[in-house]
Amino acid sequence: MHFTSIIGLAIPLALAEKLVIPAVEKAVSLQLAEFSDYYADATNETLHSQAAHDARSIEERQTSTYWYETIAHQGISAFNADPTTYKVYRNVKDYGAKGDGTTDDTIAIQSAIGDQDRCAPGACASSSTTNAIVYFPAGTYVVSSSIISYYATHLVGNPNSLPILKATANFNGFGVIDGAQYQAGGALPYGATNIFWRQIKNFVIDITAIPASTAGTGIHWPTSQATSLQNIIFKMSSNAGTQHQGLFIEDGSGGFMNDLIFYGGKYGAVFGNQQFTVRNLTFYNAVTAVSQIWNWGWTFQGISVNNCTVGLDMATRADDGKETVGSATFFDGSFTNTQIAFNISRSSTSLPVTGGSLAIENVVLNNVGTAVSYGPTASTLLAGTTGSSTITSWVSGQVYHPNGPNKVASTQTPFTRPASLLSGTKFYQRSKPSYADLASSSFVSVRAGGAKGDGKTDDTAALQSILTSAAAAGKVVYFDAGTYIVTSTLLIPVKSKIVGEAYPVIMSSGTFFADVNNPKPVVKVGNAGDSGVVEWSDMMVSAKGAQPGAILIQWNLASTSGSPSGMWDVHTRIGGTAGSNLSYADCPATPSSTTVNNNCRAGNIAMHITSSASNLYMENVWLWTADHDIDDAKLSQITIYAGRGLLVESTVGNIWMVGTSVEHHVRYQYLFRNTQNIYAGQIQTETPYFQPNPSARSPYPLNTTSDPSFDVSCPVATSAPNCAEAWGLVVKASKNVLVYGAGLYSFYSNYSTSCSATGADTLCQQGMVLYDAAATTNFRMYGLNTVGAYGMIYKDTVRMATYSYNVNVYPSSIISFDNAV
Ligand SMILES: *[C@@H]1O[C@H](CO)[C@@H](O)[C@H](O)[C@H]1NC(C)=O
Ligand SMILES: *[C@@H]1O[C@H](CO)[C@@H](O)[C@H](O)[C@H]1NC(C)=O
Ligand SMILES: *[C@@H]1O[C@H](CO)[C@@H](O)[C@H](O)[C@H]1NC(C)=O
Ligand SMILES: *[C@@H]1O[C@H](CO)[C@@H](O)[C@H](O)[C@H]1NC(C)=O
Ligand SMILES: *[C@@H]1O[C@H](CO)[C@@H](O)[C@H](O)[C@H]1NC(C)=O
Ligand SMILES: *[C@@H]1O[C@H](CO)[C@@H](O)[C@H](O)[C@H]1NC(C)=O
Ligand SMILES: *[C@@H]1O[C@H](CO)[C@@H](O)[C@H](O)[C@H]1NC(C)=O
Repeated sequence: MHFTSIIGLAIPLALAEKLVIPAVEKAVSLQLAEFSDYYADATNETLHSQAAHDARSIEERQTSTYWYETIAHQGISAFNADPTTYKVYRNVKDYGAKGDGTTDDTIAIQSAIGDQDRCAPGACASSSTTNAIVYFPAGTYVVSSSIISYYATHLVGNPNSLPILKATANFNGFGVIDGAQYQAGGALPYGATNIFWRQIKNFVIDITAIPASTAGTGIHWPTSQATSLQNIIFKMSSNAGTQHQGLFIEDGSGGFMNDLIFYGGKYGAVFGNQQFTVRNLTFYNAVTAVSQIWNWGWTFQGISVNNCTVGLDMATRADDGKETVGSATFFDGSFTNTQIAFNISRSSTSLPVTGGSLAIENVVLNNVGTAVSYGPTASTLLAGTTGSSTITSWVSGQVYHPNGPNKVASTQTPFTRPASLLSGTKFYQRSKPSYADLASSSFVSVRAGGAKGDGKTDDTAALQSILTSAAAAGKVVYFDAGTYIVTSTLLIPVKSKIVGEAYPVIMSSGTFFADVNNPKPVVKVGNAGDSGVVEWSDMMVSAKGAQPGAILIQWNLASTSGSPSGMWDVHTRIGGTAGSNLSYADCPATPSSTTVNNNCRAGNIAMHITSSASNLYMENVWLWTADHDIDDAKLSQITIYAGRGLLVESTVGNIWMVGTSVEHHVRYQYLFRNTQNIYAGQIQTETPYFQPNPSARSPYPLNTTSDPSFDVSCPVATSAPNCAEAWGLVVKASKNVLVYGAGLYSFYSNYSTSCSATGADTLCQQGMVLYDAAATTNFRMYGLNTVGAYGMIYKDTVRMATYSYNVNVYPSSIISFDNAV
């Protein structure tokens, strides 16, 4: 979270209005006419056969079942006002939806979402006690107005036979699924930067019946961390003049999405959000595949654009001469039969100085008119090709090598990628498993096995017994929704496969985790020396009350680069929720006091990847220490002290971090030490809001082995008040650390945001990124964006980059940094 007042709503709403109400005329029909000439000599049956393949496989799978549909449903919400009657699982067919392709199912689906006392848009700020999964069996569900999603709601379809949401011709609403329905007065509900813990997966969204001249929209999705869209096919009109759009995001602090396919549309996707990671999106036959309307920084991994007029359009220079898009990092993608791959408006005179920055790496062109076009004059910055070629690396923005800034718009040497991180020429990718081919008999439920998940009972022994026996028997452990209290370390053994329902919580409690000088893991994955594979998805690890000795997740397991372990949508959440004993009533923000409340110390380290661990794929992981109370109507700010964020000390390395963020830990968010072969994109951090009251030296004692010492690395007088603040990223004695997009933010000083306001005289903190020159080799970053830090990057005590040379739309940006060793 952070404030939305400056950037959150003002800019995007203005843009949203322009785009939704089709007022931005781009002479679409003229473009299409020109384009069909261009396209005439490039007929390629691949696109047709891909579409036919998708259609056929949907037919073939209509009869398939899915284990989650047939398993016993006994998940609970432990801290709900009425946990015995509140239903987490809702099958839309139990609410009267027919899915028969003719009945209007809108009301039935909406009643499945809204049943019981849930957190509806406009009526509720947020909630940790009313999570729900709304499940759609195979079928075609006709809808005539938006399905309005609620807070903490997962809309899940059968992956073996994707349910089709079919909009009627006279469909009314902003999105077949509206993830945040506009309220009277024109405000988004919840606050887009506070929308957490929700998913939509396994659907076909078909808006082809809506007249092409209407701005029909597939999904409206302003969201933030720990949210995802996965495995969704958007079907839109590709008739001349189409106004359809698949996805529309105008606000928020995301976020992650993957495995999406878009057919047709004026825009496949319209994207505006502070930061996001999008992976494996494929576009066919859109006018513009992606319209980037504003951002601070986005990471586009593995995007494929086919038969479109424009691929990524980020040419947003406004009438006042300023860009509204901050930056984009685009890699491992392809453009085929497309007129313009990138349309940008950045030039050597752009304002702000780094506005509209772009990094491209390893992008394949097949029959592309212009690779990078300068929008205002439609002139060529990087040529296309009628055949096939690869953009190895091209950047526009400010470059540090490691000195700078150098303002460039040119080809550069690509980052050196260790082979162990690659599959072919691309970074290895692996989507969250759905276990779609397994029968329900392959799963063991932890509640059926004797764990309670009621937020009261000590479930340590029951869970350990189930985890141990399931791994031995080759079964998947199914965590029914609930909060599972553990009072000593839980071991996830080698070979475990674990999947949660609506983010069940493992919550540490008691004296075992109370010693700040002797921290213990709450969940450890393997013991040091163990090797093998673990897969873990859709869960959370948390802490109850004072737990200064809790390491929430400790990963010890060694895997191989041919068969990495995986962690998808597994999050830590420290405080800020009902039942945590770290709520507003327990730990209110107290800027006017200098006393540390030791009852609000919880979480020594959020996640530690230890020296013995290796080959771990992490996707959509949010390590969050709460800054506000989720269940408080005013979202009141709270002060929770968690020592450290993500510590990586794996000596072998090979760690993939796809769409991860780490927020509000005292000493650092990401720290890479004695490690190697790290791929990370995009990473996102926030400094605790209370610092420097107290500073990062307090209230966790210095670990002289692994903590950065502010006494050594503080670049100004060590007594300067904003010197000892949490680093966003520290790289020590490591090699091959490759960052593809980073948003590292410090919005507050002692709960005041004046230090991060545009043009502030005194920034919130001195430094954000720290690396040590002596031992770190091949440390590189594309798309670094910082907020509120005077020094963007330090090499030991030397400031390498100062924010004021690199000002962007709100953060400061460096499009490409390398430490040149
Ligand atoms: C069609 O495009 C695909 C890439 O999408 C390429 O592999 C194939 O060679 C192309 N075929 C023709 C006939 O151009
Ligand atoms: C990309 O997404 C498609 C489904 O849209 C999936 O079949 C494919 O495996 C994904 N590829 C990767 C590399 O994740
Ligand atoms: C290319 O896209 C246009 C619409 O923009 C569509 O009419 C045409 O059929 C597409 N071509 C192929 C080969 O899919
Ligand atoms: C590229 O961007 C410019 C704005 O700079 C816009 O006028 C133009 O229409 C865009 N090009 C295409 C083909 O959409
Ligand atoms: C200090 O950090 C090292 C390296 O991560 C770790 O092995 C040790 O247990 C930590 N000590 C304490 C007291 O936390
Ligand atoms: C949590 O708070 C409740 C109510 O204040 C108290 O009774 C309980 O002992 C606390 N538990 C822990 C583990 O802090
Ligand atoms: C923190 O801010 C409050 C005002 O909100 C002020 O009273 C207090 O003195 C400040 N404390 C420190 C240590 O700066």
